[in-house]
Amino acid sequence: VTDAGPWVPRRPTVRGLRRAAQDCRGCELWEDATQAVLLEGSAAARIVLVGEQPGDREDRQGEPFVGPAGQVLSDALVQAGLDRSEVYLTNAVKHFRHRETGKRRIHQAPELRHLVACHPWLEAELTVVDPDVVVCLGASAGRAVLGRPVRIGAERGTVLEGPDGRATVITTHRPRSCAGGRTAATRSWSPTCAPLARRGSLSG
Ligand code: URA
Ligand code: SF4
Repeated sequence: VTDAGPWVPRRPTVRGLRRAAQDCRGCELWEDATQAVLLEGSAAARIVLVGEQPGDREDRQGEPFVGPAGQVLSDALVQAGLDRSEVYLTNAVKHFRHRETGKRRIHQAPELRHLVACHPWLEAELTVVDPDVVVCLGASAGRAVLGRPVRIGAERGTVLEGPDGRATVITTHRPRSCAGGRTAATRSWSPTCAPLARRGSLSG
């Protein structure tokens, strides 16, 4: 088995995908994780935000962006004039990759093979929601959505053509990747999201 393909339902729904992914053995990441974390959000959403993978809290709760990074994300959305209820959230990889030291679980970025193995879920999610815009939060998400390596610095903030001609934008993943913490994270977000929101491509 090289990817999640065999586990993805032929006629996907959001709930059906979420249920089916719990049985996925498309790579080894399910072994040490609590559960697969998939698409979550509003049925009215015209925008999908794609993160890297669930973190510790997401792994326990089964929802994307509910931990500390989720708080930063919520702030950034407010700054961009968006509400969490207006977006769908998901990740490039559905199981939490980590290593354990004592009682702490330390995040480990997914490798290319994990992005590739997990891609059928992301593809099905985008098919189900059929958003107007896909926002990739960082290099892993960008790579997964666009199917090629991305350069955040050079490509962020412009509207790229994603699969099926879908408008796709790339921005940074987390505040630690840009000095200044929360404020810098917000600043890196707003230029990306705000113009799209104003154009009306994020609603309706
Ligand atoms: N970071 C991500 O990329 N995704 C999450 O769900 C949480 C933190
Ligand atoms: Fe399947 Fe993705 Fe989990 Fe790997 S990370 S087991 S491909 S759902």
